[in-house]
Amino acid sequence: MGGSFLSLRKVLVTGGAGYIGSSLVPLLLRQGFSVTVFDDLSYGNYGIRKYLSKIDLIEGDVGNLELLKKSAIGSCAIIHLAGTSGDPSCDLDPKKCAKDNYESTKNIVEICKEFEISRLAFASSCSVYGAQDGMVDEDSKPNPLTLYARTKLDSESKVLSLKGGCALRLSTLFGASGRTRCDLVVNLLTCHAFQSGKVMLFGGDQWRPLLDVKDAAKAFFMAITLDKEKVNGIFNVGSTVQNLKVKQIAYLLGEEIRNVDINIHPVDRDARSYKVSFEKIRKNWGYESEYSVLDGIKEIKACLENRSIENWKDPIYSTRGRIL
Ligand SMILES: NC(=O)c1ccc[n+]([C@@H]2O[C@H](COP(=O)([O-])OP(=O)(O)OC[C@H]3O[C@@H](n4cnc5c(N)ncnc54)[C@H](O)[C@@H]3O)[C@@H](O)[C@H]2O)c1
Repeated sequence: MGGSFLSLRKVLVTGGAGYIGSSLVPLLLRQGFSVTVFDDLSYGNYGIRKYLSKIDLIEGDVGNLELLKKSAIGSCAIIHLAGTSGDPSCDLDPKKCAKDNYESTKNIVEICKEFEISRLAFASSCSVYGAQDGMVDEDSKPNPLTLYARTKLDSESKVLSLKGGCALRLSTLFGASGRTRCDLVVNLLTCHAFQSGKVMLFGGDQWRPLLDVKDAAKAFFMAITLDKEKVNGIFNVGSTVQNLKVKQIAYLLGEEIRNVDINIHPVDRDARSYKVSFEKIRKNWGYESEYSVLDGIKEIKACLENRSIENWKDPIYSTRGRIL
């Protein structure tokens, strides 16, 4: 166990062994924080294996209030990432989704109040915008079309009941991390294109805001280190120029992987489409993303080439796979 028990710089990261967590944990360690990861390790601990000697790792379910409380003792901040991520995964087991995503956030907020932990950064999602015309921002009316989006929106109101609570509405992420996900649109299309030279899109006209997973980790770091007054509230996290139509991602793939055959099926199975403004976080925090979608495509392609991702269809690379 690496971290000290009662440290002013201790951060509790729930879900810290996952896709975002495995990029965030090394960043926090580099910045001198002592890190406690609380995770049910449903994908194992391989995403953060390199750091096990430097962190405290507590294996448990975020529904276990007593264990969560013990883990939070001495923390100056909590970053709450644990949960069932994405619409398809939530639809597989709605009860678990509500428990993992909403009930857990309620627990975390209660702990923050009881222990006077004033900094809480919560992983919400731009999915709360659902389907909307034009550019949406934090003042736009949410339109949650799925259970996943609804659990995120309901959780936000709990987080905001805390002075210092910060809800980060993340874009759809891409790129490699300690525990890379291959079920997210950029990474998934890259895997298909690399393996078969083909990608199949349904509709393809849906807008998605996209962000590298390392840029997402940076936003969580800023949320717990900038002035409290600056971070309290809801912030979209992403880059306005990285709002792309799904078919544009496929065209970008063609720049990196030669002769990709792009098939567009006219039936659009996914009603969600939203273009998001990221001006609030840029103006208030000075937040800028560093990596482009093309960088992410290159990175995933390199992982497939050097076989650090060996079989991208393995359930360990997908949230849905883990639940099934
Ligand atoms: N990846 C994205 O594109 C994206 C976009 C918007 C929001 N988010 C949100 O960010 C958070 C992290 O996403 P991610 O992509 O890293 O997902 P992930 O599935 O890779 O990581 C989630 C981690 O939480 C753990 N976990 C899940 N349920 C748990 C439970 N009941 N108790 C304890 N641990 C549990 C898992 O083992 C995993 O390590 C999620 O809340 C997700 O909804 C992600």
